[in-house]
Amino acid sequence: MNPSAHSPSDDDATEGRDRGDDDATDGRDRGDDDATDGRDRGDDVPPSEPQRPRPPSGAQTIAAAVLAVGVVGGVALGLAHCTRTAPHDARDAELVAGARLYRTYCGLCHGDEGEGYAADDANALANQDFLVSVSDEFLRAAIAEGRPGTAMAAYAQRRGGPLSDDEIARLVAFIRGWQQEPSAELVEPSPGDPAAAGPVYAARCAGCHGRRGEGESAVSLNNPQFLATASDAQIRYAIAHGRRGTPMPAFEGDLRDETIDNLVALIRSWQRETDTEDIATPTIGAQVVLHPDGAAPEFPELREGRYVPAAAVARALEEGRRLVLLDARAASDYARFHIPGAVPAPYYDIENVMSHIPRDGTWVVAYCGCPHAASGRVMDYLREHGYPNTAVLDEGILYWRDEGYPIATGNEPGSLEDAE
Ligand code: HEC
Ligand code: HEC
Repeated sequence: MNPSAHSPSDDDATEGRDRGDDDATDGRDRGDDDATDGRDRGDDVPPSEPQRPRPPSGAQTIAAAVLAVGVVGGVALGLAHCTRTAPHDARDAELVAGARLYRTYCGLCHGDEGEGYAADDANALANQDFLVSVSDEFLRAAIAEGRPGTAMAAYAQRRGGPLSDDEIARLVAFIRGWQQEPSAELVEPSPGDPAAAGPVYAARCAGCHGRRGEGESAVSLNNPQFLATASDAQIRYAIAHGRRGTPMPAFEGDLRDETIDNLVALIRSWQRETDTEDIATPTIGAQVVLHPDGAAPEFPELREGRYVPAAAVARALEEGRRLVLLDARAASDYARFHIPGAVPAPYYDIENVMSHIPRDGTWVVAYCGCPHAASGRVMDYLREHGYPNTAVLDEGILYWRDEGYPIATGNEPGSLEDAE
């Protein structure tokens, strides 16, 4: 994005112009760093520097207490029984279950305290401006259906994920438990003009959210699953109030009300149909090792002792080298697309998958979309269990796909020959 694209004749684009320029520059810098991989938020590169969103200490205490209860299990629940009434017990038990699920499935990217940005551009779920403006149904749908095309997978069993409806409900209750402030009274925007918002969006938003809302350093705004469940009033609230402690500024007072309404209309104009097909959970096939008779791949020295470049893995596949590829993402993502011959090995299920993987020196390369969080967890687990030759695909599978390396779709591992 180019700051000189500001149209001086456009009131909105010049309103609060200094800030706009700063934002644009920030956004652009980040964009350039990531030029090779739009979605690559390396684990070690925070999406934006200074303030990390921090959940209020009250919520932290509740979460800590809940987790502590989880650790000592029955004993603590027994104690609670002495001091509290029955309805609380039931609620506590639900929160304990929710906390466990959250730690297993979500903390990896959204942070164990919901602080966000532990990996990729996973937003701050404990953020008060977020929680006061979204419904339980919005949270439920985000978890169940995910955000296809981003690192946020679908977690509902119906969509090939690991979680039952009850488990998703517990997660929603657990996340809601972080809310400290009263829910906002959301104001329905007046009907806006999407075209009128084009220049101001380009100048003030695209640097973080992408030219067409596809997500850049910040969450995507054009995702069909997001738009299917986010109300106009909720989107308006996000733009007007921002998200304290995150890079998302509050635009109220900075942009005119009418301009904000136009921005909502523009974002709404990106809505497309969602796909609602059932997806079966992929299972591990008979052949786990690729090219069992091939020689070992000759990988360059692993970056930081962990990361192998996509080009080296692509070459090994092409040359018929012996190796195992593990898809560390949630199972629903595997069904969408994966590297041909890869084993579905979700980060939350690696204990079970491990029994299928030979520990005989065969190279094992794990990958995910984030691009290191889930795959890193899987690789660390294998290393702890004595696997000698393991690596993480450095750039992740979104880069792999965008570079035109072979991709298979569906629940079957597929082979290089029938790859797209
Ligand atoms: C591999 C990383 C990753 C994991 C694991 C993950 N998420 Fe996400 N999540 C993301 C990203 C990235 C986004 C933003 C996607 C986008 O750009 O639209 C997101 C978005 C969301 C949103 C929507 C937020 C909004 O404002 O639109 C919710 C709610 C959410 N995640 C909850 C969860 C829960 C609960 C879990 C655990 C079951 C989970 N996520 C696991 C990466 C992850
Ligand atoms: C400096 C970067 C930056 C700029 C500029 C920016 N945003 Fe954001 N925006 C973010 C981040 C980061 C989030 C998510 C924050 C969180 O909750 O963790 C966000 C969240 C949002 C959300 C909520 C999305 C969701 O999934 O809940 C909307 C809507 C939004 N921004 C719209 C806009 C619009 C419209 C503009 C321009 C007027 C804009 N943003 C400018 C960084 C930015």
